[in-house]
Amino acid sequence: MKVLVLHGPNLNLLGRREPEIYGTKTLDQLNEEIEALASQLGLEVEFFQSNHEGVLIDRIQQAAGTYSWIVFNPGAFSHYSYALRDAIAGAGVPTIEVHLSNIQAREEFRRHSVIAPVCAGQISGFGAASYFLALYAIFERAGGVQAQNELTGF
Ligand code: DQA
Repeated sequence: MKVLVLHGPNLNLLGRREPEIYGTKTLDQLNEEIEALASQLGLEVEFFQSNHEGVLIDRIQQAAGTYSWIVFNPGAFSHYSYALRDAIAGAGVPTIEVHLSNIQAREEFRRHSVIAPVCAGQISGFGAASYFLALYAIFERAGGVQAQNELTGF
């Protein structure tokens, strides 16, 4: 099962961008950890980061037919991009919105996501683990440990 992990604007700066909020891990380190967990769960992940709304929209539109799920951190676009929301709603690929920080506990403008209503769910506030929890959710939706055991003959 293929999962597209999409990182939105400014996430390329992870590690040096407001480390007190987003931690000290770089995007490459985060992706390595996601990849390691995904392979344990039997999921195939691909990564893409862009600072550009239109590029992210293109990538979401192209995801249909190739990926079973999208794990998406839309960054600040979460709070106002109706275009990204429409792309997710139209692509027909179930999407989980993730945030490193707890957007509910931050500035007022971050407390609302226009993306969340078209997503399967939102995970926010657990740093890298927000992405890990999204992978677990996909694993569970795919049948979880039981399905894994059937595959491996347990
Ligand atoms: C973020 C939260 C957003 O409000 C912010 O604009 C980001 C990162 C997060 O992962 O916590 O760029 O999506």
